[in-house]
Amino acid sequence: MPLLTWNNSYSVGVETIDQQHSGLFAIVNELHAAMLKGQAQSVVGPLLDKLVTYTLGHFAYEERMMQAAKYPNFAAHRANHVDLTRQVQEFMARYKRGDGALTVELLQFLSNWLSKHIKQEDKQYGPFLTRHAA
Ligand SMILES: [Fe+2]
Ligand SMILES: [Fe+2]
Repeated sequence: MPLLTWNNSYSVGVETIDQQHSGLFAIVNELHAAMLKGQAQSVVGPLLDKLVTYTLGHFAYEERMMQAAKYPNFAAHRANHVDLTRQVQEFMARYKRGDGALTVELLQFLSNWLSKHIKQEDKQYGPFLTRHAA
């Protein structure tokens, strides 16, 4: 059972961003599957790296789009990205030191954060970005 399944209720109305969100879901699901199988650090570590890289790339992309569209809530939105990035990087550092385990709670936190952020914050910029692109 995947933790996150992308469907239209997650659509922000911008195709490139919808694709990135569903890509993020796929990585979280991969991590979840690896955790359920009890995969070793040699498998989980690279997946976590992939999640961080993908997330950073996605946030940077969104931020460029919001800035280009002069989205009024840009600063608050960016602060949310910075906050999650910091939390994920802290976890990564602990995991690599060997004092943090990949747990259901962590993945649940990530899934909840992502779905809430997309549905509440990302969706708000949709109309600005589409208007700007038009
Ligand atoms: Fe997003
Ligand atoms: Fe966002």
